[in-house]
Amino acid sequence: MHFHPGFLKSCLHIFILNLLIQVAIAQEPNDIRLSPADSIMVETLISRMTLDEKIGQLTLLASAWNSTGPAMNADYEQLIKTGKAGAVLNFYTVDKVRELQKLAVNGSRLGIPLLFGNDVIHGHRTIFPIPLGQAASWDLAAIENAQQIAAMEASAEGINWTYAPMVDIARDPRWGRVAEGAGEDTWLGCLIAKASVRGLQGENYKDGKHILACVKHFAAYGAATAGRDYNVVDISPVSLYENYLPPYKAAVDAGVASVMTSFNEINGVPSTANHWLLTDLLRKEWGFRGFVVTDWTSINEMVAHGVAADVKAAAGLALNAGVDMDMQGSAYLNHLEELLKENKVTQASIDEAVRRILTAKVRLGLFIDPYRFCNKQREQTEIMTKASQDFARKLVAESCVLLKNSNSTLPVSPGVKSIAVIGPLADSRKDMLGNWYSAGKWEQAVSLLEGFRNRYGKQTRIIFEKGCNLNDSSVSGIDAAVKAAREADFVILALGESGEMSGEAASRTNIDLPGMQYTLAEAVIKAGKPTAVVLFNGRPLAISRLNRIAPAILETWFGGTQAGNGITDVISGDVNPSGKITMSFPRNTGQIPVYYNVKNTGRPYSPDRPDEKYVSRYLDCPNTPLYPFGFGLSYTKFTYSGIQAGVKGNSITISAKVTNSGGRDGEEIVQLYIQDKVGSITRPLKELKGFKKLMIKKGESVNVSFTISREDLSFYHPDLMKYWEPGEFNAFIGGSSADVISASFKL
Ligand code: BGC
Repeated sequence: MHFHPGFLKSCLHIFILNLLIQVAIAQEPNDIRLSPADSIMVETLISRMTLDEKIGQLTLLASAWNSTGPAMNADYEQLIKTGKAGAVLNFYTVDKVRELQKLAVNGSRLGIPLLFGNDVIHGHRTIFPIPLGQAASWDLAAIENAQQIAAMEASAEGINWTYAPMVDIARDPRWGRVAEGAGEDTWLGCLIAKASVRGLQGENYKDGKHILACVKHFAAYGAATAGRDYNVVDISPVSLYENYLPPYKAAVDAGVASVMTSFNEINGVPSTANHWLLTDLLRKEWGFRGFVVTDWTSINEMVAHGVAADVKAAAGLALNAGVDMDMQGSAYLNHLEELLKENKVTQASIDEAVRRILTAKVRLGLFIDPYRFCNKQREQTEIMTKASQDFARKLVAESCVLLKNSNSTLPVSPGVKSIAVIGPLADSRKDMLGNWYSAGKWEQAVSLLEGFRNRYGKQTRIIFEKGCNLNDSSVSGIDAAVKAAREADFVILALGESGEMSGEAASRTNIDLPGMQYTLAEAVIKAGKPTAVVLFNGRPLAISRLNRIAPAILETWFGGTQAGNGITDVISGDVNPSGKITMSFPRNTGQIPVYYNVKNTGRPYSPDRPDEKYVSRYLDCPNTPLYPFGFGLSYTKFTYSGIQAGVKGNSITISAKVTNSGGRDGEEIVQLYIQDKVGSITRPLKELKGFKKLMIKKGESVNVSFTISREDLSFYHPDLMKYWEPGEFNAFIGGSSADVISASFKL
């Protein structure tokens, strides 16, 4: 390469500047700042790029493999050759990625390598439980490990960027995308967001087995009105700051490399055009240094939103708001040049966006080796390993939540001679993967029936009947199902939703069991055998009717590749269930949104005065959910006593005794909640502020103690400042948000 002397001089300036910055600021894990030499390389490249090539770097094209929206750009290979693409999505396997990367590296003028993105949401080939299920484990180390395995498998197949974690707080289970997140609680959501970013990105991608994460959907996509996907979000500033923004911020603090804008508007401004959100808050206030990508065609969709007359105007809004990369809309590709000529965008903002994207590529090591993620040997040895399968099976069991267990119906007693496994989900491998299963192959998944056959072998007769389909009106299989139940010593009813009934574009207005499944359950339970329902679903369901008649209910979400084995571990009693739901289960759909951290209102309902009329209540349904946040049973029993709260300096310590008073060893998720009794603005009745997951042996007691600080009690005020207020607080410790013992303290 021969450089102009003026260019070398400017490189020297950059070098010195960088050196000063590097000395001034110590690098943290995932610190995005480049070394001086890398900075020079990036600046050199930018100085040599044509406008077309720059716009190319801001363009993310979807391959034809998989579409999650309107398909465009059939000519993506041609665009790559001409430097008009910076990244490709939905494209993997070593050979294929190598081929396309070669087009970019050898075929285009400057040879800038591509990013390869994919939705690796809960595993790549080894599929883990859906994120809402993983959250129910409350096991941050396990969640981090699952993401690390996902990154290892994805990176072994050419992928170097994933569109995860999804951290949208959601209180409305009609919204199908609750499956992809951690549930309704912001505090827990922050911890899970951090664990997830750590797992995916590792420490600075040094080992080549970690990939860029992308926190999404910024912001407040989970507050879609009425749970209808893509719908508007209308939210108070205090609630936005207090409830919805913190998990994105947690991901940024953990060093997330990229942020995806959300489809929705917030109070009239679509996220993709929101300068306040993408620049003032994200970059200036939070210090985010990575790059911002749109969601699928989000720029183009701003025409339908009604904030831009055409796609060109929308492209200008997006770039000026702070969007660096255009996913699949070609809005930048087709319009940025013209917008620049018309002075509607600046060269500096285009260059800055290019710089951010090139920086991500440098950090991944793509300029040193563009084929870093194209290692045939890794592809053969690091995917679907025995260790990953064993871990996945463990995580399935940890994610299961025992919702009901009258007369200790579960676990299945060891002596049973025959088990009838009945229901439309009993022998489905496909549904076990849920939605967003990346390159997971349903043929490799273990169905519930297979899990039973694997566990019980020949000594127990396993009878299978489908009973009915998932979602139609046929009852023709019910008689055979009842006959099977009568023949068996124990009955399993595998009910719920299909994998496709949650996820994107999968909102439902009635979230009870679909089709004739309740009718099947009623008929089979009447056969009078010990019966346990195994539920599969991507959202909390409204199952009051089923709850009334089913002796036992085990919530298993969509467990992924090892679903059948992990669930059978719990049903057989090999594993004592310990999961707790992170999203409340409503009694019926009309009760939604129902969540635990509610406020009191001026006319609270009191169970002591059940007939009082002019209070905040329904005539036909209690206010409380069917199963509250944090709830989940065990095969043993935990009792709580002796809560104490004390303040010393800045530390507040709350402790209690937890006793395993049942007949088995078991793990308990001990939860701490706080209530600020009187505030300058109204405060929730309870907020999660701590938890510990503990193994307690039968008959043993442990003292559990939590220490929090005054800052942990701070909250957003109408001026959007966050601080705590002195006064009296209630502290609660218990095994669910609704079953606690309490003490108070004063600050
Ligand atoms: C979804 C995103 C996803 C993207 C790419 C969109 O439709 O909203 O969550 O990452 O597609 O597949």
